Amino acid sequence: MAYSEKVIDHVENPRNVGSLDKNDPSVATGMVGAPACGDVMKLQIKVSDDGIIEDAKFKTYGCGSAIASSSLVTEWVKGKSLDEAGEIKNTDITAELELPPVKIHCSILAEDAIQAAIADYKKKHGE
Ligand code: FES
Ligand code: FES
Repeated sequence: MAYSEKVIDHVENPRNVGSLDKNDPSVATGMVGAPACGDVMKLQIKVSDDGIIEDAKFKTYGCGSAIASSSLVTEWVKGKSLDEAGEIKNTDITAELELPPVKIHCSILAEDAIQAAIADYKKKHGE
């Protein structure tokens, strides 16, 4: 199966790889796994006092499409409010990266990861 040029670009130059300090109250973490293949994705966000995502990092143990999906999502969420970030759909990711049907679950993993990070932030802040 051939990867699109956009996937290859994200795999070769992943954006925002790494970790944020999980003890920082403004940081939230989403950790999800794909039952279909066992891949794991960790996505972290740092949220400003006025509710804007000012930083995002990821670590993904998985295929190129999963790495590209999480790399793309870290770029997309920066500067967004939690509500705006929560509107990112896996279909937006598959369209941008031109993922084939067998790789759709990789983009769902990225959508789930951002949802999990948002939920973690709200839980931490008693919402
Ligand atoms: Fe996930 Fe290939 S099945 S890396
Ligand atoms: Fe399973 Fe990509 S996340 S093959």
